[in-house]
Amino acid sequence: MPGTIDTLATVECNDLIESVSTRSYGQLRLRLDRQIPVLPGQFAMIKPHGHYEPLLRRAMAYYRCGLGKKSLSVDFIYQILGRGTQMLAKLKAGDEVDFLGSLGNTFYIEAAHRHEALLVAGGVGSAALFMLAEELVRCKIPTKLFIGGAGRGDLCGLGDFISLLSSDQVISATMDGSYGEKGFVTVPFEKHLQSRRGEPMIIYACGPDPMLHRVSQIADQFAVPAQLSLESPMACGFGICVGCAVAVKAESPVGFIYKKVCTDGPVFWSNELHW
Ligand SMILES: Cc1cc2nc3c(=O)[nH]c(=O)nc-3n(C[C@H](O)[C@H](O)[C@H](O)COP(=O)(O)OP(=O)(O)OC[C@H]3O[C@@H](n4cnc5c(N)ncnc54)[C@H](O)[C@@H]3O)c2cc1C
Ligand code: FES
Repeated sequence: MPGTIDTLATVECNDLIESVSTRSYGQLRLRLDRQIPVLPGQFAMIKPHGHYEPLLRRAMAYYRCGLGKKSLSVDFIYQILGRGTQMLAKLKAGDEVDFLGSLGNTFYIEAAHRHEALLVAGGVGSAALFMLAEELVRCKIPTKLFIGGAGRGDLCGLGDFISLLSSDQVISATMDGSYGEKGFVTVPFEKHLQSRRGEPMIIYACGPDPMLHRVSQIADQFAVPAQLSLESPMACGFGICVGCAVAVKAESPVGFIYKKVCTDGPVFWSNELHW
C-alpha cells in the first residue's frame, strides 16, 4: 500500500474531554518521525505499544495534521467506548503507539463546479470531516456544517469548525436541547435542502449508521450526490480479515455484493450502498 507505514509514533498530548452526558472523549496528538500523505477521509489503526489487551489496533479517522521539518503530527478525537479506547485514554506524553496508516480512500471534491458543500456530522463522526472542511475552504467552496449529538459536549470539534467556517455556517442540534436546535441534526439539514432545492450541492457525512441512512434518504429525495464515511468495526484495517464488509448494490442474483470498508472505503457514494 503506497503511502502506508507500520511504525511507532510518539504521544505529544492526550487531552480528555468530559461530556455532561454519559459519553467521554479524548483528543490525541501523535508525532511520526517521517512524513506520509494524510488525506481527508483517511484513517490509521492505532493502539498503545507493548500492550496486548486488546490485541488489535483500533481505527481512527485523521482529525487534523501538521508538518514539522522532518516529522508529521496527526490528531485524533476518540470516543471512550470499550477496551481499545479506554487504553488510548491512559496514554501520556512520550508514550509510544503502534501506528498503521494512512489507510483508506479519500473524499471526492469537485472543486471546479463550486457546489455548496453540506457536511453532516453525528457525534465523534465530525472527526472525519474536519480536514475535509479545511480542504473545501482552501478550494473556496462554500461550506456549511450540520453537527449533531446527544448534548453540547458531544459536538466534537465544534470550536474548531466555528473558527474555520464561521458561526453562521455551523448549524447545531442536540437531542437534549442543550445547544442549537433540539432533536436530530437531519431535521435542519433537510430544511436547508428544501430551501435550496435545485441548486448545485454535494453532501458529505459521517456519524452513526441510522444518521447516515437518513442522510442517504434525504440525498435521494432531493437528488443531491452524497459521500458517506462509514465507521464499521474493523480488525486488520488493510483488507485481509473481511471483518468490515459492507453491502453495495450490484447486478448479482441477490442485488448486492460485499466491499471492504477498510480498502474500498471508508468513503462511499450513498447511492452505491445497499441499506
Ligand atoms: C474508518 C474508521 C474511522 C473511525 N474513526 C473514529 C474516530 O475518529 N473516533 C472514534 O472515536 N471512533 C472512530 N471509529 C470507530 C472506532 O474504531 C471504534 O469505535 C473503536 O474500535 C472502538 O474500540 P473500543 O475497543 O473502545 O470498543 P470495543 O470494545 O471494540 O467496543 C465497545 C462497544 O462499541 C461497539 N463498537 C465498536 N466499534 C464500533 C463502531 N465502529 N461503530 C459502532 N459501535 C462500535 C461494540 O459493538 C461494543 O458494543 C472509526 C472506525 C472506522 C472504521
Ligand atoms: S478490517 Fe480487515 S478486511 Fe477490512
